Amino acid sequence: MANSSRAPGRSRRLRAALVVSAAVGLLATAGAVVLPGSASAASTLGASAAERGRYFGTAVAVSRLNDSAYTTILNREFNQVTAENEMKIDALQPNQGQFNYGNADRLVQHARSQGMLVRGHTLAWHSQQPGWMQNMSGTTLRNAMLNHVTQVATHFRGQIEWWDVVNEAFADGSSGARRDSNLQRTGNDWIEAAFRAARQADPNADLCYNDYNIDNWNDAKTQAVYRMVQDFKSRGVPIDCVGLQSHFTGGSNYPSNYRTTLSSFAALGVDVHITELDIRNAPTDAYRNVVNDCLAVARCKGITVWGIRDSDSWRSSENPLLFNGSGQKKPAYDAVLAALNNGTTPPTGNPTTPPPTGNPTTPPPSGGCTATVTPGQVWGDRYNTSVTVSGASTWSVVVAITAPQKISATWSGSPTWDSSGNVMTMRSNGSGNTFGFTTMMNGNSSARPQIRSCTAG
Ligand code: G3I
Repeated sequence: MANSSRAPGRSRRLRAALVVSAAVGLLATAGAVVLPGSASAASTLGASAAERGRYFGTAVAVSRLNDSAYTTILNREFNQVTAENEMKIDALQPNQGQFNYGNADRLVQHARSQGMLVRGHTLAWHSQQPGWMQNMSGTTLRNAMLNHVTQVATHFRGQIEWWDVVNEAFADGSSGARRDSNLQRTGNDWIEAAFRAARQADPNADLCYNDYNIDNWNDAKTQAVYRMVQDFKSRGVPIDCVGLQSHFTGGSNYPSNYRTTLSSFAALGVDVHITELDIRNAPTDAYRNVVNDCLAVARCKGITVWGIRDSDSWRSSENPLLFNGSGQKKPAYDAVLAALNNGTTPPTGNPTTPPPTGNPTTPPPSGGCTATVTPGQVWGDRYNTSVTVSGASTWSVVVAITAPQKISATWSGSPTWDSSGNVMTMRSNGSGNTFGFTTMMNGNSSARPQIRSCTAG
């Protein structure tokens, strides 16, 4: 994620914000029933996600901040917000050169007063352009777009954790092509130009590409976005993250290879975010799967649902959200909270090759515990490993990976990394004595992780 042109420290700010948020959530749950064996079970989405180093957010319509039933749920449950409409181009620059930040500033103020992180949505988009911009083309439009990016990112500098710099720039269907739009017709480099302008205006915000129908790893649109991100990374275009809108409503459903999509983008060296989640009729299984998939991918930073109550949804007739119109928790809410509290489950899927049969390394017990490696499933591009610790109930295990292999996901532990990214220290986090991780082979299919040490305490 680090980019040489960026100021240091924002990741630390994010972690601190989440820790504070978790603490607030835990305080808020004082007196709640604590289930046996789940001493750390949080009772709100944001607090539980924060315990996992993630956020759990929602789209907010600023006009609804006057509705106390709405804000009660917002403030209680969520630690991240995205403006549903108030940071779009037509809202912020209704007339050329005349910026209207009132509603967006109100949301940012509210979020900051509640310790919530803010996602900016969105700087450049073919849709929701004000009339003056819709009528532009060529260099005039390119410059107007870049000016908008610069002005808006500058206005909010220091207040936005992630920007959806460009939204929905790829076509649906099997072409894998860019979407035709007035912005696209200014030249294929309009996306990277927008990212560069955003980085210059706010070097501390993470910059994301955001789209829908990029959830299924096999879809041409997903592959096309993947190739763009790969290209950007290889050429140093400043991109930090990919947002999967994940509107599993109407035409598209939760795909069984969703975790592969998340981990594949992550393996490119970007964070992944689930930015606009809603699921038609709010089935508990699909919501649970989305949470488990995110938790299984270390670079999946959080989940944002696209509204609080069904009545707030852009597709209210499909009842796709976690709260009903009366603000009551739906079964999907319980499924999401339980999945967050339970942490991750190891990735599932269909291995394409049998597990490796080599000699897993188990170091001599030196630091008061022993770590035993069990090889897991192997796919064409990655493999799983689980490690069981004996001799201590709290521990840290140092695992070394052979480059260019890279760990893309972990579960049931709290990882930190050395500067090379190839040595992981996994600490117990109350999830038991077995942790696991997924390693992307990146061309080396034979190397396997080495355990360097196991230290009790
Ligand atoms: O506020 C006006 C109201 O004054 C007017 O009477 C009414 C009549 O049309 O329109 C109201 O504005 C609407 C606005 O939502 C607020 O309700 C716009 O017409 C309508 O186009 C707008 O729809 C939004 C849509 O994006 C288009 O920008 C949805 O709320 C919003 O949920 C949706 O969000 C998008 C994401 O930004 C990108 N991904 C897909 C997602 C769902 O479409």
